Amino acid sequence: MIESEKVKKILYGGDYNPEQWPEETWEEDMRLLKLAHIDVVTLNVFSWAALQPDEETYCFDQLDKIVDMVTRHGMKICLATATGAHPAWMARKHPDILRTDFNGMKRKFGCRHNSCPNSPTYHKYAKALAAKLAERYQSYDNIVAWHISNEFGGECYCENCEKAFRRWLQEKYKTIDAVNQAWDTAFWGHTFYDFEDIVAPNMLSEHFDYNSTTFQGISLDYKRFNSESILNCYRLEYDTIHAITPDIPITTNLMGTYQPLDYQMWAKYMDFISWDNYPSNEAPFEETAMRHDLMRGLKQGKPFALMEQTPSVTNWLPYNALKRPGVMRLWSYQAVAHGADTVMFFQMKRSIGACEKYHGAVIDHAGHEHTRVFREITELGAELDKMGALTLGARTDAKVAIVFDWDNWWATDYSAGPSVSLHYCDEIFNYYKALNDLNISADLISVEDDLSCYSLVIAPVLYMVKPGYDEKIREFVKEGGRFVTTFFSGYVDDHDLVTVGGYPGKLRDILGIWVEEEDALPEETKNSFTYGGVTYPAVLICDLLHTEGAEVLCSYEKDFYAGMPALTCNTFGKGKAYYVATRSNAAFYSTFIRELCAQAGIEPVLDTPECVEVTKRSNANGTFLFLLNHDAESHEIILPQGGRDILKDTEYQAGDALALAAKDVAVIHTK
Ligand code: GLA
Ligand code: ZN
Repeated sequence: MIESEKVKKILYGGDYNPEQWPEETWEEDMRLLKLAHIDVVTLNVFSWAALQPDEETYCFDQLDKIVDMVTRHGMKICLATATGAHPAWMARKHPDILRTDFNGMKRKFGCRHNSCPNSPTYHKYAKALAAKLAERYQSYDNIVAWHISNEFGGECYCENCEKAFRRWLQEKYKTIDAVNQAWDTAFWGHTFYDFEDIVAPNMLSEHFDYNSTTFQGISLDYKRFNSESILNCYRLEYDTIHAITPDIPITTNLMGTYQPLDYQMWAKYMDFISWDNYPSNEAPFEETAMRHDLMRGLKQGKPFALMEQTPSVTNWLPYNALKRPGVMRLWSYQAVAHGADTVMFFQMKRSIGACEKYHGAVIDHAGHEHTRVFREITELGAELDKMGALTLGARTDAKVAIVFDWDNWWATDYSAGPSVSLHYCDEIFNYYKALNDLNISADLISVEDDLSCYSLVIAPVLYMVKPGYDEKIREFVKEGGRFVTTFFSGYVDDHDLVTVGGYPGKLRDILGIWVEEEDALPEETKNSFTYGGVTYPAVLICDLLHTEGAEVLCSYEKDFYAGMPALTCNTFGKGKAYYVATRSNAAFYSTFIRELCAQAGIEPVLDTPECVEVTKRSNANGTFLFLLNHDAESHEIILPQGGRDILKDTEYQAGDALALAAKDVAVIHTK
């Protein structure tokens, strides 16, 4: 679908469910979709019930017709495997396919994304269906990707999962003693005598709400187990399909910052990343940018597919406001600016019934092309046609990395203390936003990724330091890298067991400090510190720390720990390691990050007003400067390089002013 011989442009389209409509309406759909420059449709996402009415019977007549029709109309296909919701007969005859939820409630048939990931029934029939689909449609060379299931997610706590969890633990720890040690079960007399003693951690056992557990170790392992169990379902289909159609890339649609699944592990088994982007109108644009960059980072910077977004409106927010004129186009280019090589929607046509009938679509209930949304979609489609293959495969060259780690996210969420207001993604976002506002590109990387290509590595709330990760950071800083970490870092190992001897544990020598206490401030309480002559607030958490070689850059100004360090810098080998002992505000992060980048020789792509986002991607065709005006006002931008705005066909020289209207976009191509 991306980086494939068959694809010569940014594919434009999305979910199409003609099976929900009488056949006589389909040809008119084709006319409308082609009018809108749609060239790819995602088919068959929720058709399991239609494809397999019972154990033995498979029925592809309708799907054959649909596939043939869109093929005849010259469209590409992203073919889904339909396993995102199981058929009713399966639930009736094989209740093992039903999930048991976090409260211990066994679900009945209903909703979607509803299969137990360890159900033998699910494994058997999902694999069988994937094989049948791959065999049947393998000769269609307009199939550009397989789309396995849909938005995998959730959790199951049924007996099958519990048994599988025990097997998973046995494999991981070998002995029950090792389990007891890893989870510190001597606490509260939880010692397990046998693997059979272990039960799934939920409201019936260790939890008192979703994120509150008496044993972080067991809950953390269950998260890992659940993420892997669901991944195994994906892999089962992947392997089946890949064996039949080795040349068609396979993906599944991810959901950005989705907590329950460790997408960095998932990415290893995906041919390309695709994801669904549904920000609310109020969401800061930098947050969407961060999610795009997280998705790009899953495959070390390879372009990804924007698999879904709404053309206009969602139906599931409390207030489903319309995307204002121009915003669908702006957000589509924002995805491309951050590494997307497709622009796709949910969905092509609104249903008349059920819970998504008021969700935006290319073809609205009005049923014709004379709508604002249709016009905007058509205009964007024409632009993407004109752009052709120019930007495909282009990469972002980032010198800054932000470490993002699902285990750290889970462990921070599960931590009892220090503060209920400490949220992993918020802390990542504080730093990300500062970089984004400066137009400095960042890669969001995993702890497995190489650091040597970066000049600055920021690891907010690196609470869990996995075995060997301190060594990686040590090497990076020794060789001249700049490293930043924050409060609540270096506390625990991969079992959530504390590294004793003073926080931040294994990072102490790199940072040249040790933390004695940690003060969690209630919401209305603030401390402060002064940096570069400006006083900034210290909120959320204030570490009380001592230096062991680090230089103190600022100190707290209030309370009994006034005068203790709030920000330190340690020279370590050829590099520097910074410790930000508290949370501050956007102005501080901006100033601090600007200075660090300047010292490291990292230049912003361009200086622009805060609401104008700029990114740069390059490929063999040259470089592409994406200028995105998120503001309601127009702005004039002085271009740093000459080139052609490929959307408006205008040539610019370096130093020229480009007038960017409210919500408008320019893509400057320099050869
Ligand atoms: C998700 C799903 C789609 C649809 C949209 C609605 O992304 O994948 O099937 O439900 O949400 O926003
Ligand atoms: Zn289960």
